[in-house]
Parts: sequence; structure tokens; C-alpha cells
Amino acid sequence: MRERLSMDKDWLFHHGDIAIPVENSHKAVYGNAKAGGIMGAASIEWNDNEWETVGLPHDWSYRQPFDREGGVPDFGYKPRGIGWYRKKFKLEPSDNGRQLLLEFDGIATYATIYLNGSVLGRNFCGYTSFVVDITDNVFYGDRPNLLVVKVDASVSEGWWYEGAGIYRHVWLTKKDPLSIADRGIWVNPVKQDGEQWLTNVETRITNERETAAEVELLSRVVRADGAVVAEERTAGRAEAGEAAVLKQELPVSSPLLWDVDAPHLYKLHSTLLVDGEERDTVTTSYGYRSIRICPDTGFYLNERPLKIKGTCNHQDHAGVGVALPDALHEYRIARLKAMGSNAYRCAHHNPAPELLEACDRLGMLVMDENRNFDSSPEGLRQVENMVTRDRNHPSVVFYSLFNEEPLQGTPVGRKIFKRMKQAILRLDDTRPVLGAMNGGVMEDGGTVDVMDIAGFNYMHGGYDRFHEKHPGQPMIGSETVSAFATRGTYVSDTALQFFDSFDRERANWGNTARESWQAINTRDYMMGTFVWTGFDYRGEPTPYEWPSVSTHFGILDTCGFPKDSYYLYQAFWLDEPVAHITGGWNWPGKEGQPVTVMTHTNCDEVALYVNGELRYRQAVELYEQCQWEIPYEPGTLRLEGYRQGKRVAVDEKITSGAACALRVETSKAALLGDGRNAVVVNVYAIDAAGRFVETAGQRVSFSLTGSGIILGAGNGNPNSHEADHLMERCLFNGCLQLIVGSDAGHNAIELTLQGEGLQPLVQVIPVEVADEPPYVLSVHERYINNWLLTQELSPERPDPNVEIHPTDMNSWEKVDVSFGPQQLLQGADGYVIYRSSITLTEREKNSSPYLYFHALSGDTEIYVNGRLLAKQSSPWPMTLEVALDDVELGDETVLSVLVGIQPDVYKPGINGAVSMGLRG
Ligand code: GAL
Repeated sequence: MRERLSMDKDWLFHHGDIAIPVENSHKAVYGNAKAGGIMGAASIEWNDNEWETVGLPHDWSYRQPFDREGGVPDFGYKPRGIGWYRKKFKLEPSDNGRQLLLEFDGIATYATIYLNGSVLGRNFCGYTSFVVDITDNVFYGDRPNLLVVKVDASVSEGWWYEGAGIYRHVWLTKKDPLSIADRGIWVNPVKQDGEQWLTNVETRITNERETAAEVELLSRVVRADGAVVAEERTAGRAEAGEAAVLKQELPVSSPLLWDVDAPHLYKLHSTLLVDGEERDTVTTSYGYRSIRICPDTGFYLNERPLKIKGTCNHQDHAGVGVALPDALHEYRIARLKAMGSNAYRCAHHNPAPELLEACDRLGMLVMDENRNFDSSPEGLRQVENMVTRDRNHPSVVFYSLFNEEPLQGTPVGRKIFKRMKQAILRLDDTRPVLGAMNGGVMEDGGTVDVMDIAGFNYMHGGYDRFHEKHPGQPMIGSETVSAFATRGTYVSDTALQFFDSFDRERANWGNTARESWQAINTRDYMMGTFVWTGFDYRGEPTPYEWPSVSTHFGILDTCGFPKDSYYLYQAFWLDEPVAHITGGWNWPGKEGQPVTVMTHTNCDEVALYVNGELRYRQAVELYEQCQWEIPYEPGTLRLEGYRQGKRVAVDEKITSGAACALRVETSKAALLGDGRNAVVVNVYAIDAAGRFVETAGQRVSFSLTGSGIILGAGNGNPNSHEADHLMERCLFNGCLQLIVGSDAGHNAIELTLQGEGLQPLVQVIPVEVADEPPYVLSVHERYINNWLLTQELSPERPDPNVEIHPTDMNSWEKVDVSFGPQQLLQGADGYVIYRSSITLTEREKNSSPYLYFHALSGDTEIYVNGRLLAKQSSPWPMTLEVALDDVELGDETVLSVLVGIQPDVYKPGINGAVSMGLRG
């Protein structure tokens, strides 16, 4: 049966490129040209003992110091470059005969995948997930497999922080060669008359066996409560070496619909049977929902009109770069939901699978976006990859093919778009396809004619003009706003590069939140909006550069702390009453001077009190809000919101004293001890009365005991140059955030926070017992594989340390000892020599190295640098351990194994893996 194992543990990492060694000898060039014989850091023999051990997800870029001189503002001044990863793992002997697939969820940016010294895959996009079939090249049993990934992140695909490395998960799937294909299931439920739905299921079965097979597919629709609500069996035939596609239609009446408010999910259990026996099972999560778009009235979900209230987002988060633990995706989507948002644009690239899973679970619509506008075979492969991975997610409702492409208004752009769109439609014709345009919309013959929806980035002055010209074409604000604000800041300061929070600062091409929402919300034909951006992100510090290293666009900062505009969107997007005071009320020394105070409310009337005294009571226009200049006096500022004369919402801001303590909020009550879970810890400065101190900026240091690790920290300050992975951080406007991950243990965590003038705080985070997901068995030893064996048996005992001439490819043969005994030797009489060499580092030399022979048979003598170290005689395979302690170890250590063979020796010679371990 199918197994899916995590490959996230025990990678060795080297930052920087490793040039392929220049070797001019015939021997080296000849060997490098052979399958499995690659030279350099991808080779089996490469010494990786000094490499750093890392786990996935891993992003090496954000951990580097900011580089003001050499860095790129758009990339957040973080170096990227090249990195190498190596991982050794073992497979069971019983895996022999199974199909083995490696799934890489995302590597930034260009990745080359090597397995056991051969290139098995390449991927040229930092955002697509891809699969590499390693079945042919693996070893089973003792001999470890070596997976090497070279990551070239010196190439960029965006103008934002893209991270660097294997920053998403890696999986190994083991399955029968006759089984359901990778991404082989496409569930497409279609509504029929009344409450009836047809669950259209297409299942692709691949037969890598040598004979054809009659198969049976059993598909079951399972509701969340476990009830099987539909079931169908279909027979088919899978020819040898080919794929068969089985189509089924499973009727379901009155399913619980997937909707943004009640995201009901179903599971499809697919079981493949051969001769009545189960061969494979796959479970696919999906939902019943319909979508429809109308040029006059916009978007419909389950036939209910729904204005798209969306945000655009990149994928990084404070503390962790782009290497987000799964729980953080959920946290971010939940933050946006709480704002009233119902849609997420994956700007400008395919997201992590876990993000879409969170959107499915929480009820968030998704515009899934492709990175490269490219209809070449490689470009089409990338777009197809997005669709086959994502089409079962009910949350995904739009596919976007590009963002702001200079070719968007041209016939060339149109041809590219059309071919890419056709590639999508072949795989999924249920979602509208668009591009996010910042020009060219009025051109005839450009891309817009072949889009299902015209995506407008900004250009809101042109909405009506376009609608008049193309009344039949649905329209959406694929990107809007681009306003600037710094969380908790109420006075813009160009010298410090901070923006105030009064919804007035914006990019030249953008709009304020109010202008933009008015433009969208007052036009029924505008399907909705995607605000740039939900969260701040590293890089693109527009309109500034250094010291700003991340954006000012977010409605929430890089940690997900809400800026004031968060409440403005709540006022726009939620039905429930919202009244929020935007403005600071901590201005020591400014008593009596006017300070700005603004409402973020959806009430029709508000009253503002200062220390109990009514200052204003007035009607509110939603797209204007109220703004006052109020003489500051310490105390309480109170805003009351009314609807039809009734008080329905209240907000207060109270002048605080000096920060003297901290308050902590965790994103969940307990951490799961599964080695992958994470909890977000938000830290707030408070005064002696427990009031939030919105101006606090003290440095806080942290430490932790129990089963957790601090993955990183942030504070949302776009100009902060503090390191995210250190155990201290300054508060920024009263807040900072830690991300605490599970280390797979189950002891409660005690997190201690302290700072000058702050009462130390110990926060206990309970850890729930949970199993780790299954992992691939890692191997830590160094494997010695470059063995040469004398071609002929010698009747006389030869000199075991005889020299090999460098051009001699013929009297010595390269052999792979882990494949077992050489048949040539079985039943023979005479002597052979095995020869290999290794290079030991200083650390290895000083750590009591030893050699370990997994299987050695015959009369063997082990020589190291010409010195006899061990002898063993055995007529069948035995293990042998040889300590290297007393040997003079130079740069190159030459190993010679002399084997004397008689006809009755069973499996003579070295017939199993040889490894080197360290005792010290
Ligand atoms: C848009 C672009 C985004 C971002 C934004 C900033 O033109 O699509 O990626 O750069 O501007 O306002």
C-alpha cells in the first residue's frame, strides 16, 4: 500500500557554491561522464562532514545580515546566492519493486535534483511544486541513498523578498507500480436540478508493470462526520507501461455546501483493486460549491452574490522568512478572515499547499496565480503544474496568468495568454482565467479580449470607460490601494521613514483605502477588490529605500499585528458594528496641543468624549469617516458608535504610564508535540495598571525550556535591522512576536521574557502529546563508494599496495560494492584487490574515525595508507570494523583490501556498503 513519508529532517546544508573540481585526468573525465558518476558536491563521495544540519522548511536568506551596499532594496537587502543540500536515507529491501516519488513543494529558485550521483530533475521556478521519480536510481537495504539539491537563488523571479533554499516540505511517496497516478484525481462536483449534485471524478491509473491488468476503482464520497454518501465501482484495464483514465459520476443530494461562512469539506476515498485486492488508496479533500460570474453584477458563490473583499499577499512572515511552519499559514488566513476578508490573491505566484488547505478549511476564496508569463514548453509545464496541484481545492475560484506584463496590450501577449489559457482549460475548465493588468486594457487585440475577467490593477479612473467599451466582460480590481502606514504611528516622518495611520498616504499610482473601496463598492459590475497588501512583506520598501527593509503597504504588519486600517476594512467588510479610534493618546509634553483623531467605523453616527466630556457627536459618511484635531489631555478618549440612534459599539484609548511589564497572547491554548506544529506568541508592553503601552520600544530577551524551539522573532518595524533568529528583539510601538515550534518532545514549555525595567514574565505553553508524522530513515554516516577492483584474479598473492597507472581504465574496474558480490568471483580461486581513497577533515581525523564493512567474505587484509590494519578470514559474509586511530592520516587516505578466494567461499569479496563513522 501507499506510504507518504516526510523528508524534512536531517539535511546537510552548505551556503555558497561549490565549484566542480577541475580534474583533467582521463580517469576523472571518463568517470564524470557516466550515470551515477557525477563529480563534486553532488557526488556520493563528497565530504559533507562540516556541513550544517538543518530541517525543512529552510530559508537561508533572511538569516544573513542585511547588506546595505550590495543588497537589493526589493529583496529586503538580504543576500541570496547559491546553496547545496545533501540528505542520506535508507530504503527497506521490501521497497524494491515499488514506485518511489519525491515531491518538492517549493524551492527558491532554480533547483537541480541529484540522486546517487545522477541528475534526476530540474525545476526553474521558485514557486511551483514538482515531482521527481527516483524509482530507477535508488538502493535498498544497507546502502544509503544520497539526495543532493543544488539551489541557485542568485536568479530572481520577483521584486519582493523571495527567500532562498528548500523552503517548503519534501515528501517521499512509495506505491505500487500499478496505482493511482501522482495528482491523478480530479474531483469536479457540478450542480444539477434542485439539490442534486453530480460528483464527476476522473482517476488516472498508471501501470508501470510489465503486464496489462484488469483493475477496479472504488470511489466513496465521505462527509465530515464519516458517513459515506455515495459510492461507485468502475472496472477498467491498464495496459502495461500506460495510463488509464477512469471516469465516474457520483450523485449526491443536498450536500453541505462549501461557502465562505460555512466551509464544509468532503473527502473522496479512492481505492484501486486488482483481483479484488486493494493496491492503492488516496484521499482527496474537496467541496461542493458553485461559482458564476456576471458582467453586470459580479461574482456568485452558490448562486448568492458575493462582493470579493480580498487582499494580495506574498508569502513571508516575521521570524521565519518564507519557511513558514504550516500553522502560520492558518494563523495568517484566520487574521484576514477576522478582518472580514473573503478572498486571497496569491501575488504573484503559486502558494504553499498548506495555504490552500487553510483557505479550504477557513472559507477563504483564492485567486491562484502563476509566476512566469511564458507559453514555452517550460512555461506551460509551470502553469499545468499549478492546475493539477490545486484544482481540487474548493477555495480556488480564479486562475491568474500574469501580473502587469508589458506585453499585456499587444498581439504577442494575446498569443501567449491564449496558449497558456488553453493549457489550463484542458485540465480544468471550471474557473475563470484572468491576468492582472496595469495598462493595455483599452487595446483591441491584446490579452484582455481572451480573458474571462478583466483584471484591473489600480487604474480605477478607467473602470467605467472599460465597462462601456466591453459591457459583456466581467471586471475585478485584481490589485487596489497601495496605501502606506506604519503600525501604531500617528505622525508621518520622512526622516525616520514612518507613515501615519490616517489613510492618506499612498503610492502615486494607488489610492487610499476609502477611495478605492468606494470605487469598487459603488459599482455592481465590479466583482470586488484585492487590496495591496494584507500583510507587510520583506523587500519592496516603496517609496523609500534603506533603512526601510520591508514594505509599508500592509493592512497588518509583517507579524500580523493590525495597523489601524485593519479596523477600517472591518468597518467596510463586516456587517456587525465597528467603532475604532485611530490616533495616539500618549503625547507627554504635548498637553493642550491639537492631535489628529479619526474614526474607523460603519456606524451611522458617532460621539467622541475626552475624559467624559462630549466633544463631538456627528453623522458618519462611510467613505469619508470623521477626523478631528483635538487638544491633547491625558486620560480617556472614548468613541461611541450608533446605528439609528442606538449605541452599538464603543472604543476607548487611555493614556498609559511607563511600560513595566509584558502581557502575552498565544495563538492557541497548547502546542502539538508533533515536531512540526507552531504557536504564535504575541507580546505586548503594559503599564502598572495593565494598560497597553503603544509607544514602548524596550529590548526584550527570551529563553525557553521544555519541548519547543524559538523559530524566530519580529516586531513589524519596517526599518528594523535586528536579526530574526536571535534570542532578543526590541518592542516596536508596544508589540513583538515570537514563533515557537515543536521539537517533537512533550514537556510543557516555559518561555521567559525579560527586558530592562520590565517585570520578567514566564509563560507556560502546554504541549499536547502528538505523534510525529512518518519520516524517511536518515543516515548520518559517510559512505565510501569509489572502489576499484582488479579485473582479473591473480593466482599469486599480489602486492596489495601496487600503484594504479592514472590512464589505466582496463585492468581495474569501477565497482559498486553495495550491490552485492561480483559474480566473477564466485567459485574462483586466487586474489583480488579493492582500492579506494577518502579525504578526511581535521575534525574527522581527531574524532576517532573507523571503517565499517557491512559484508566481507574470504581471506581479507585491510591496508590503510599502505599499513596492514586488520585481517579476517571467513567463508561467508561478515562485518568488520577497523579503527583508524593509530594511522598517520594525510590529506588522502588510501584504502586497499586484499581478498584471497577459494571456490567454496560464499559471496567472496566486499559485498555490502562500506562506511566511515566517528567515535569521538
Ligand atoms: C504593483 C505590483 C505589486 C507591487 C505594487 C506596489 O504594481 O503589481 O507587485 O509592486 O505595485 O504598489
